[in-house]
Amino acid sequence: MSGNDNDGKNIVLMTSGSISAFKAATLASLLVKDGFHVQAVASEGGRRFLGDPTLEGLTGRPVLSDQFERGRALDHIKLADWAHLLVLYPASANRITRLRAGLADDLIGSLFLADNFRKPWWIAPAMNSNMFAHPAVTDALRVLEDWGCRVLPTGEGRLACGTVGYGRLLEPEDVFALIKEELG
Ligand SMILES: Cc1cc2nc3c(=O)[nH]c(=O)nc-3n(C[C@H](O)[C@H](O)[C@H](O)COP(=O)(O)O)c2cc1C
Repeated sequence: MSGNDNDGKNIVLMTSGSISAFKAATLASLLVKDGFHVQAVASEGGRRFLGDPTLEGLTGRPVLSDQFERGRALDHIKLADWAHLLVLYPASANRITRLRAGLADDLIGSLFLADNFRKPWWIAPAMNSNMFAHPAVTDALRVLEDWGCRVLPTGEGRLACGTVGYGRLLEPEDVFALIKEELG
């Protein structure tokens, strides 16, 4: 993790299990090129879609995922302190409903509870339209927003599964612009 990056540009970029996870690589690249310090954190699902070497190569930091890794046991606390903004990009339906339940059995879940909304905590949903409209997901997003998360809009259009509708991940360029706006 980290280093002493005290210029207000520390981003924790969390990826979860969506087919759109490759877009996190573009977001990481845009941020790094603009001088942001990016620490990638991946869920098990996220790692299946986007290889660690890609994110490590782009960010210059090993991807974190195992909260029990030797020597890194306090990462969920340290990362929450280090970050100026945390963004879950993409956020899978599973991940969203798990956060709403307060489950902390992996690094993203523990990080979510450890931060407790001291820093901007953004969620960028990405899923099939039916999943996005399911009450388990809409309810979770509403609660997460009430708690203090910022839920980014999804786009409408053709999804990877072939259907057309809502649930498409916001493009990396748009999220990059929002982060710049937020952190100046
Ligand atoms: C090919 C494929 C594509 C998937 N795309 C999505 C997706 O875009 N959004 C989503 O919520 N789940 C999607 N899933 C299901 C998730 O990957 C699955 O729920 C996984 O357990 C999520 O893991 P996570 O909690 O680490 O995100 C997809 C699964 C497969 C096999």
